[in-house]
Amino acid sequence: MQVGKEFDKLESDYTAKIIRWVPHYQEMISSLSEGYPPDFVPLSILDLGTGNGNVSALLQSRFPEADKVIVDASAKMIATCKKRFGGFEQFSYVEKYFQDLHFLPASFDMVVAGLSIHHLQGPEKEILFQDVYTWLKPGGFFSICDLFVDPEDDLEHKRVIGEWERLARLQGSTDDDWAYLMDHYDKYDHPNSYEQQLFWMKNAGFEQTSIPFIRDCFGTIRGHRVP
Ligand SMILES: C[S@@+](CC[C@H](N)C(=O)[O-])C[C@H]1O[C@@H](n2cnc3c(N)ncnc32)[C@H](O)[C@@H]1O
Repeated sequence: MQVGKEFDKLESDYTAKIIRWVPHYQEMISSLSEGYPPDFVPLSILDLGTGNGNVSALLQSRFPEADKVIVDASAKMIATCKKRFGGFEQFSYVEKYFQDLHFLPASFDMVVAGLSIHHLQGPEKEILFQDVYTWLKPGGFFSICDLFVDPEDDLEHKRVIGEWERLARLQGSTDDDWAYLMDHYDKYDHPNSYEQQLFWMKNAGFEQTSIPFIRDCFGTIRGHRVP
């Protein structure tokens, strides 16, 4: 099954589930709209893999004037966002896979991706980072919050999964939750390390790459398209 259909199934009660399943969820998604230079006021924002809109809701309160384009492959998630943000004229909606997106160069001041990039294979990430660089205006920022780990590093990968389980259970995840999560992880998740993704960002042209938020393997990375 494609990832968009999988997230159709997760749409109902999504926020309660993700808070139970993903350690530091609220802090991580908040970090996408924080920590920019004080004079950075984006007027156009792209939210990649918006889900039910939790990241975009934070962006709307932080940058209310900005136009927001929200993208997701899940028809149900996009339908929920249309209801959630229906009262705001700043929002437009694209039901597509990232791999099929085409925007004009220099379309956005800011691009964010909350827990969505790990669904791409490594080479797809590299291509997307290059696309995002061209879609950004000079002066723009690209921020990703996600799980960061190198699955090829067996010991570290096992440690990360063990720590994730420990924290998820502290947040109320049950045996059924954890069994579902690991099945989903095997089928749909392709994380890479902080170092690898920062390297791909730099290769795409981003400068001043940084990790503005980090809690072990859960964190936020950022790149700047310098003017
Ligand atoms: C884990 S959810 C995160 C949702 C939201 N950003 C959040 O932080 O709560 C990942 C979302 O990305 C979408 N997604 C994953 N891979 C995608 C792709 N290649 N193209 C478009 N959407 C994708 C899924 O449909 C899902 O809604």
